[in-house]
Amino acid sequence: MDKLIVHGGATLSGAINISGSKNASLPILAATLLTAEECVIRRVPDVSDTNYMIQILSALGMEVERSSGTVRIVGEKVSDEAPYELVRRMRASICVMGPLLARNRRCVVSLPGGCVIGDRPVDLHLRGLEALGAKVEFEAGNITLTATHGLRGAEIDLRGTHGPTVLGTDNVMMAATLAEGTTVIESAAAEPEVLDLANFLNSMGAKISGAGTRRIVIEGVSALHGTEHNVIPDRIEAGTFMVAAALAGDAVTLRRVNREHLKVITAALESSGHRVVFNDAGDACTIYRGGNLAGVDLVTAPYPGYPTDMQAQMTALLATTPGLSVIKDTIFPQRFMHCAELKRMGADIKVDQGTAIVRGVAQLSAAPVMASDLRASAALVLAALTAKGRTEISRLYHIDRGYEHIDEKFLMLGARVERAQ
Ligand code: EPZ
Repeated sequence: MDKLIVHGGATLSGAINISGSKNASLPILAATLLTAEECVIRRVPDVSDTNYMIQILSALGMEVERSSGTVRIVGEKVSDEAPYELVRRMRASICVMGPLLARNRRCVVSLPGGCVIGDRPVDLHLRGLEALGAKVEFEAGNITLTATHGLRGAEIDLRGTHGPTVLGTDNVMMAATLAEGTTVIESAAAEPEVLDLANFLNSMGAKISGAGTRRIVIEGVSALHGTEHNVIPDRIEAGTFMVAAALAGDAVTLRRVNREHLKVITAALESSGHRVVFNDAGDACTIYRGGNLAGVDLVTAPYPGYPTDMQAQMTALLATTPGLSVIKDTIFPQRFMHCAELKRMGADIKVDQGTAIVRGVAQLSAAPVMASDLRASAALVLAALTAKGRTEISRLYHIDRGYEHIDEKFLMLGARVERAQ
């Protein structure tokens, strides 16, 4: 079933549970390579990206058992070489590099290809791992890292031209947990998913402080032990449904969210005229579509700035928000594939040098559109919710990479969607 049919015009209401974070689950699953003891990780979303990671870990020799959102994983002995066939399908596989190197003192991982959102270099990952003492070699599209005498702590600045690197910070932090001595990462990524990984590593016996800030200090230890962990809520899935509610909702409630992680998305929606009300615990919110709406200007930035992973979804909302909006993606300046498809639906968008200028139109109209990457596909589903007519979105596998049962969740909120061949 590779298509999603969306009949526009339904009003969304009711409540759904937000799943565990895909982008926290991936490095946490990889971090289990750092110990020979069993780890139990709960609230891992059932999406193809986490399934790919589980397949890679199994291929490396880990025993993995998954029942609904809980993953049990243990590996007495693991191989050094991540299988090309699996790694090539998911760029985030690169985050097995740090833990494999720390565990085996050697790892071979294929260089990840680029993707539609832009070139996906790994120079910062390699800068960090080299600083810890790894020797880096390239051969036949593979990166081979070796640290015959083990890894040693170092002071590392991971800033790149587009700011910090999330998975680069993860890779270096994971490797440093078993290095000799202390490592300091300057210009570290501060995303909640990095902090969740650090909490997971500390529960395994690592000694990490400063995670969630730009400066992380890791004191190396001789070994890590097994642990249990609940993954944080997926702030991008939550943000996607918040935008759906602002677009087509009456009063939509999202449960199992984290108010802190949603601050900048909430601010963007409220500045456009919508209302977001959190409960006292901050783990549920209700979104009310505003009556008097206005365009907004957005510039994506590393956390706690506006997330690049929420840029396409907001563009879909602003396409039918009265007024002018300017959206600039400083992290992935090419991440505008969704705009061409939104224009096929009648949106008025001009894209130039990493910036989209959106002039709100009254209503979009259905058209057959094609998904191109995970978040662009989500934006097309959002646009179709209020478009006139029946929109057919093909290449649905892009959505299934990162959204757990997205059609079932939309159906629960009253949207008229169905999968089709
Ligand atoms: C993570 O990717 C996320 N993926 C991405 O989400 C997210 O868009 C991105 O962070 C930015 O927030 C996961 O967490 C699995 P980066 P990552 O390294 O770590 C440049 C989604 O939709 N860079 O933080 O791979 C890079 O080109 C996905 O869920 C270098 O120059 O991204 C980009 O411009 C898409 N050299 C910027 O840094 C490097 O060595 C940020 O990239 C690494 C990155």
